[in-house]
Order: sequence, then structure tokens, then C-alpha cells
Amino acid sequence: MRTRLSLFLLLSLLLFLSSCAVVLSWKKEEFRNCNQTPFCKRARSRKPGSSPFLAADVSISDGDLVAKLVPREPDPDQEDQEPPARPLALTLSAYRDGVMRVKIDEDYPPQESPHKRRFQVPDVIVSEFESKKLWLQRVSTERVGGDEGVSSIVYLSDEYEGVVRHDPFEVYVRERSSGDRVLSMNSHGLFDFEQLREKKEGEDWEERFRSHTDTRPYGPQSISFDVSFYGADFVYGIPERAASLALKPTRGPGIDHSEPYRLFNLDVFEYLHDSPFGLYGAIPFMISHGKARGTSGFFWLNAAEMQIDVLGEGWDADSGISLPSSQKRVDTFWMSEAGIVDAFFFIGPGPKDVVKQYVGVTGNPAMPQLFATAYHQCRWNYRDEEDVENVDAKFDEHDIPYDVLWLDIEHTDGKRYFTWDKVLFPHPEEMQRKLAAKGRHMVTIVDPHIKRDESYHIHKEASKNGYYVKDASGNDFEGWCWPGSSSYIDMLSPEIRSWWADKFSFENYVGSTPSLYIWNDMNEPSVFNGPELTMPRDALHYGGVEHRELHNANGYYFHMATSDGLLKRGNGNDRPFVLSRAFFPGSQRYGAVWTGDNTAEWDQLRVSVPMILTLGLTGLSFSGADVGGFFGNPEPELLVRWYQLGAYYPFFRAHAHQDTKRREPWLFGERNTELMRDAIRTRYMLLPFFYTLFREANVTGVPVVRPLWMEFPFDEATFDKDEAFMVGNSLLVQGIFTERAKHVSVYLPGKESWYDLRTGTAYLGSKTHKLEAPEDHVPAFQRAGTIIPRRDRFRRSTTQTVNDPYTLVIALNSSQTAEGELYIDDGKSFEFKHGAYIHRRFVFKGGKLTSLNMAPATSGNLPFKSECIIERIIILGHAGGPKNALIEPGNLKAQVEFGPLLLQGRSSSGVLTIRKPGIRIADDWTIKVL
Ligand code: GLC
Repeated sequence: MRTRLSLFLLLSLLLFLSSCAVVLSWKKEEFRNCNQTPFCKRARSRKPGSSPFLAADVSISDGDLVAKLVPREPDPDQEDQEPPARPLALTLSAYRDGVMRVKIDEDYPPQESPHKRRFQVPDVIVSEFESKKLWLQRVSTERVGGDEGVSSIVYLSDEYEGVVRHDPFEVYVRERSSGDRVLSMNSHGLFDFEQLREKKEGEDWEERFRSHTDTRPYGPQSISFDVSFYGADFVYGIPERAASLALKPTRGPGIDHSEPYRLFNLDVFEYLHDSPFGLYGAIPFMISHGKARGTSGFFWLNAAEMQIDVLGEGWDADSGISLPSSQKRVDTFWMSEAGIVDAFFFIGPGPKDVVKQYVGVTGNPAMPQLFATAYHQCRWNYRDEEDVENVDAKFDEHDIPYDVLWLDIEHTDGKRYFTWDKVLFPHPEEMQRKLAAKGRHMVTIVDPHIKRDESYHIHKEASKNGYYVKDASGNDFEGWCWPGSSSYIDMLSPEIRSWWADKFSFENYVGSTPSLYIWNDMNEPSVFNGPELTMPRDALHYGGVEHRELHNANGYYFHMATSDGLLKRGNGNDRPFVLSRAFFPGSQRYGAVWTGDNTAEWDQLRVSVPMILTLGLTGLSFSGADVGGFFGNPEPELLVRWYQLGAYYPFFRAHAHQDTKRREPWLFGERNTELMRDAIRTRYMLLPFFYTLFREANVTGVPVVRPLWMEFPFDEATFDKDEAFMVGNSLLVQGIFTERAKHVSVYLPGKESWYDLRTGTAYLGSKTHKLEAPEDHVPAFQRAGTIIPRRDRFRRSTTQTVNDPYTLVIALNSSQTAEGELYIDDGKSFEFKHGAYIHRRFVFKGGKLTSLNMAPATSGNLPFKSECIIERIIILGHAGGPKNALIEPGNLKAQVEFGPLLLQGRSSSGVLTIRKPGIRIADDWTIKVL
């Protein structure tokens, strides 16, 4: 009786938790801090210089430098200092394009097969990376003052070399000519590696947090070390958190009680807007930038919980450790609960080089379909088919373009994904076809928790085949999520991923059509009744991998399997679109991400900028924040400002919690509708520019939106700016983050001028301008020296713009020159990979605009044809007043007007416009203004 009663109480509690979870605000006590996390507490309490390791037996093997890290004899004066039982194995490899890799793992003797090997994350490093390996031939030795100073040195490139100092062990990259360091590991002697070992009698390995116990069957296995960035003013990266772009120190003089930056994927309700706390995704990749040296990066491929300290100047004052003092430096301290050291040193030296080096390892961002780069309309939930039809019709009625309508969890039959609520959505195919007829798409949500219901086919198959993650005792792990009692598919297994991918075929996903795409949410994974709302760390995955070892990559595997599913469903040859909330290095290959459950507050609007910039710096170029804020009801002014800024997010989607009031753009009076329409149209107008940038990201990894310092790496004033950002190299956007703002200050970097996107008015660079805060847009400026392609005709959706003409906006610099690009393909298929695209480079120089072909002429390329023409060329900042334009080939004349630039009803003066030059985008031509 008693058991039944407690079971009932437990169930009621769980039900209560699941229903009210989303209305709770951020509860600090639900999550562990560093002091409650034994490996973090232990690591943080260690002193510089305490690392027990020295390097020995250095040699070259299979083109790598290999060495043993041997524990020093324990210091008899130091208590409870356990010497590691065995030496560790170090492998240092060099790669082309400025990458050095250092792996450190236990040194498994050849014949011994340990009962548990440490987890190395598979499936992240792209296969092409290995082909860049430089086959190291020799290692040289350097001696600086006696035995202590022995170092082994290998060639990395003509400019750089890798150095392993033996005792104390340290590894670093330095410039060959100057000897200046770039990046180093263990320079402060904090390297520690807890090796797997037998449990001693009486030893308690369990860890408890709140009501949860982690059995920790393998005991302590954490790793930690310090990393220093030289010539650095700031460090950036290591998403995801709602914090400033330049990472503030977390330890050091004058910093009390600060937490390290946490990387542990969690479903965090109502996150705070300025916190080191880790959110839904984790990318252990940090970038440093400084005036003295430029940029470098450090990436640790490890999927266990990580904590990272940024150490404030003077933190090591009493350590007795002295590093080359002529170089400014940022020191950091990295701690992980499990796994191995698999670290990548990126040499830079420019910001774009580092991003390229990183995607060279983890893969380039996927090229999205054109529709996905346009505006998305989402809400939890569009109620039923009628609601969908009405919302869709209203967009047309109000002349607002949109491309995608989203359905959240309520569209399913009781949160059984791949099904439809038969009453609310009885005709899903017809509903999608109606949207598709207007060139629009639909996205439905598919979460990773599977309802434990014998009549649900996914559950039946998964449980029968043993496809679920197991709990510590080997049974299917059960947790609580939206559907109630659920289990979680084990996506680490390739076989299970393939089974999952098959579920997206049109046959298996009944009611889906080719215009339907997918949203993966809750894939941290979110487990409402689990420790910190996630899966217990001792849960077991394929191959005996503990969840603790894999946790941060859990969502990555789910995203991967879903994206493969869309590829597999054989929709012609079309590119998947899958939005994911959780992410890990490599996620950029599978789709877009968003910043999760933000709140309708001004500060959250503000923090969306550094969050998205950080994601871009770490490979995830295709990201956005919920426009309007997920929780709460934004005042119309905040909503409008959010649209105005969100129009420049790479991923532009409005979304709202089910408890919020409806907030489609036409619900706040005519003026506000007009303002939101304007914002959305600005995005549509700039889509050719955005799409070109998505292609750049796809080829190089350089993100669509960028911190100012990525474009102005020598302008110190930009290094900690995160209220403004660059779209590509051409557009600077400044958000407005306060209510009823009268003025807005904008810092415009560089020596050249900037042109107001609306009016064409020129502003000087290297200056902060105090401007009136316009009601109808957030300030945006085109950089002098650039050319931006646009499409100025407004349609219902992108599909209808395919044959529309282009406008080129040329912003001349002080030498009367400018350059820009336009990339076009079919916006849908993978044929671009076989050359089916148009890529033009426009150069304005000596009074002449030239269109050059950038697509390599490779035989066997698939053709891509476009009859689209350029209908207008706008030239800003032209010194003379030419009357005519001469077009070659053909010796044709076009008229030049000197007069107002018309953009969405606003006008300016001092602008040259060439109307109807009648030239095709696909052709080579020149236009000379005379
Ligand atoms: C999570 C998501 C949110 C979604 C909700 C219901 O909170 O972050 O976007 O609307 O779940 O599926």
C-alpha cells in the first residue's frame, strides 16, 4: 500500500514537474556549480607547477612525434599526492594549413586489453583532414641551460615549429624567426590526468547531487591543463552561454566567487542574459585575438562535461613561474570529467585563418536551401489546420513575405513523433501541398524522447531491437519528458542512426511530403526528472560508452541521424534542413541551430548578438535567436526592434511559448505591422547577399555574421564590441536595445566611409557617431569599397523570386573602387557541388564596373542557367557627375541618373543610378560611366 502511495506521489510530482517546468524561472540550485562538481573543485584547487609529468622517450614514429609522459617521483612533503600509476602516451602531429594536434591517452601496453578504454569521440573529424597530415621526418633537440632545458622540436611550416619541453613537460607552438610563442599547453604546470584504476577497498566513487546518485563505476578520470594564448588581448568562443563576446576572466585578482565557463549541454529554462552557465550546446574551441600577434585558436575534442577558466592578469603572481614577459598573454585553464586529450592548436594568424583551420578539422557548414535563409514563422503551437491556413493567408493579406510555417509538439498524436493529431491535423499532406503551392515549406518537430507506449511503432521497434540507451543496470533507460515516460534512442550506434534515418522516408513518416523539413529539440537530452534535467552520467551507450563521456555530443548524433534521414528519403536531390537545439563541433555539417528558450526582454535581445557571433566563430554559421523572445509577451516596440535586428540573423525565425499571447506581425496595429513588414522585406531584399555569404561559409567556414574585429583585426576599439556586427565584409548592423531610444551610438571602424543602407548618407570611419535612433529600422551601413547584390521586388516567398532581376549597390571608397560577389544556384539541390552555379565577382575601378566569372571552368560540370538580368545599379560616393553608361560587349548605352536613392520609401541625394542596363547576371560584361 505504502509503495503504491509513494509511486502515486512520485508520479504526481513528475506530472507536475513536466507541466510546470516551462513556467519556472532559472533555478540555480537545480544545476551543479564547480564546487558541487568534484572534478572541477579538485582541479581548481591545484597550484601552478604541481603537474607531476615530464616527457621522455621522444622519437618519430609513423610521421608523428611520440613521447611518454612519465610521472615524477612524488614529493614526500606533499600529502595525498597520488602518483599516476603508469606513464601516458603523447602523440604530436603536424598538418598543413597551420594546425598542430596533440593527443594524450593512457599508454595501453600492446597485449593488455583494459576492461575499459577511455572514450575518443568518433565521427567529428572529417576524413579530408587526415590527408593534410605532414609526415614528420625528424625531431631536433634544443638545450637551454642544463638538463632541465631540453626540448624536442619539430617542423610545422616554414614559419612555425612545435616544441615539447621535457622537464617540466610543456608543449607549444612558436615562430621560427622570432622565437615568439603562439600557443602553449602546460606552461603553468597544471596538467593532470586521472588514470582509470581499480577501486581501493573502502573507497566511495559515487557522487550525489540533490536526489540523484551517480554510481561512477570507473571512478575518477578527469583531465585538466592550462593553455596560454600569446600576443592576445581577448579570448572568445566556447559556446554556448548568454554572455559577452569577449570572455571575461573567471579567476584572478579581484574576481571573487566566479564560476568557470561551463560546457555541459542542458535544457535551461529562462536562462539569464549574463552568465557563464552552459546552455544547450558545447564547442570546446577558444579563439584569441590581439593587436600584437593576431589570432590563434585551441580546440579540445572531448564530449564530457568541461569547465574552463579564463585567468585574469596577475592570477599567477605567486606561482614562481615566469613565461616570456615581452609577449602579452591570456592564460586559461581547461578541465574535463573524462575522455582523452585530443587537442588542436590553430596558428592563425588572422581571424579568418583560425576559423578555416577549425572547419578544416570539423567540417564546413552545410549549404542551406534558399528558403531556409528567408523568414520562418513559428509558434508553440499553430493549433490546427484552420489556424495554419489563416496565418498563411494573413501574411498574403498584409503583403508580408515568409517561407516556412512551423508546427511544434502539439501537432502530434500525444507527442509521438512522426504522427499527427487526427482531430487537429486530419489532412497533413493537403495542408503542406497548399503551402507548397505558394512556394512555402513546413517544418515539424521530432524530439529524441520516445513515448513508452506499446502501441507506438517507434517504441515497439526500438525496444524490441534494443535501440535505447541503457541505465546503469543495463535496462532501457526511462525518463520523463513531453510525452510522459520516455526512452531515448542510442544514436552513437551507426546501425541505430541508419534505422532512425529510415523513419523519414515518405512511406514511414505518414503525412509528410517533399516540402516538409525537421526541427530537433530537447536533444541535450532533456530529461525532466534526470539530474540537472538531463540523462544520468552512468547511463550506457553503444559499445559500453558511459553517458558522461558522450554527453555533449548526444544532440550532435541525433541531428546527424535526422539530417541523414532527410537525405535518404530521396527527395530528388535536395539539401536537408534540420534545426537543432543541442550541438557539438561538427554540427555545422548538419544544419542550423538556435539559442533556445530566451525571454521577451531587452537584455535578451542584446545578448542574442554575442551569442550568434560566438556560434559563428566556432563554425556554426547558421544560427539565430527566437525573434520576439520565447517566454513572455514583448511590448510591440521590443517585438518590432527584434524583427529589425533578427532580419540580419543568419537564421531568422519568430517563435513563442504556448502561454504567450499571439504575436503574428499584424496583431499590433497598422504602424507596427508596417514596421515588421519593412524588417522582413529588408531580409528578402538582401537575400542574394545573404545566400552568397552562406556559400562563402560553406566553402571557407567564415561565418555569415562576424564580429567587427574579424573584418578589422587591427582596430583595437572593435575587440570587445558586441552590440554591432558585420554581415559579410560589407554591412555593419547596430542593434537598438533600449526602450524608446532617442539616440544610438555607432562605432564605424576602418579608414573608409560607411553609407547608411537606407539613405545612402556617408559617415566617416574610425569614429563613434551619435545618431538619432530611427523608429523604422536599426542602423545598418554599407562599407565603402563593397558591392552588395539585392532583389528589390517583393513576393510571397523566395520560390517566386527565382526569375526576378537584381540590383547592385556599389559603395565607392576614397580611391573610387569597390568589389563584391554574387553566388546563385538552384537554391535546392546538390548540383552546385558539381559546378551547377553562377559565381560572379564585380569590380568597380577606373570608372568601370566589370563582372568576372569566379566559377572554375571544369569540364563535366553540370550547367546552371539563369536569364536573370540586372535592373539597376546604384553607385554611392561617386566623385563626378557622369551622364552616360557604356556597356560592352555591344557598345550599348544606358542612362545614368543622378538623384535620390529610393529604398522603402526613403530617399537621399548624391547617388548615381544606372537604370535598366539590360545585362544578364550570367554573362561577362563591363559598364563604363562617362
Ligand atoms: C522547448 C523548445 C521550444 C519549444 C518547446 C516545445 O522549450 O526550446 O522552442 O517550443 O520546447 O516543443
